[in-house]
Amino acid sequence: MVSLSWALVLAGVGVAASECTHPSFKAYKLSSSPLIIYLQNFLTKNERSHLKEISKPRFRRSVVASDEGAKQSRIRTSQSTDLPRDEIVKCIEQRAMEFQGFDTKESQLEPLQLVKYGPGEHYDYHTDWLADPQYTTSFNGGNRMTSFLVYVYVSNDTTGGGTGFPLVDAPRDERWCGFVECDEPFGSGVVFRPVEGNAIFWENLIPGTGRGDGRTEHAGLPVTSGEKIGMNIWTRQAGISDEVRKEGGPLDF
Ligand SMILES: *[C@@H]1O[C@H](CO)[C@@H](O)[C@H](O)[C@H]1NC(C)=O
Repeated sequence: MVSLSWALVLAGVGVAASECTHPSFKAYKLSSSPLIIYLQNFLTKNERSHLKEISKPRFRRSVVASDEGAKQSRIRTSQSTDLPRDEIVKCIEQRAMEFQGFDTKESQLEPLQLVKYGPGEHYDYHTDWLADPQYTTSFNGGNRMTSFLVYVYVSNDTTGGGTGFPLVDAPRDERWCGFVECDEPFGSGVVFRPVEGNAIFWENLIPGTGRGDGRTEHAGLPVTSGEKIGMNIWTRQAGISDEVRKEGGPLDF
């Protein structure tokens, strides 16, 4: 009798754990060209604390692209990690795919990556699309078509740590001021505030050409106090080969 009820409890837990329900996030278009869409409440509180918990022991110094492959650099001083694909991580992957329409396949997603910034840490201006053809082979699924940058954790004493897009025109309506810095001088681009749970989605490539869009250049501005954890969700133009996926995905930068 006891073991039967335990079996029922365990079955119940199994069902609950594999359930993927999406929060009702809101989407606001910030720019048409390049396409940039701001997503409010893209991650739930539960998802955020889960990601923070599972990533805790995994962070190591971030790397950047170079001619000789991945290497550490003063231009990117954060800590990074990929994530084990548990049910919650797969649910977030699902959400990111569906947002891009039903033609986006799971095999196009790179493994999700978390990036942690402490005081003084930053990532200089860069694009997520890759200029070096060695990183955009068909084994790697071509180039990075889209990016989501999701704010997973922002400590309550965080200052700095915005995400700056200097080549994108700032929106004018005051309602943006919760999401972007509104006291920047006009013409200096857009600086998104780090707001926990929210995300920025953008297209990296010029539509119809496959060429990288230089206007998507952006930076993780230095955190001046506190701690910020962001998540990268990168979608390739085509499926990433199984061999590359088995090795943990094409790149960690
Ligand atoms: C900020 O977070 C810390 C650690 O979680 C907590 O102890 C503190 O009360 C919080 N402060 C405010 C103003 O919310």
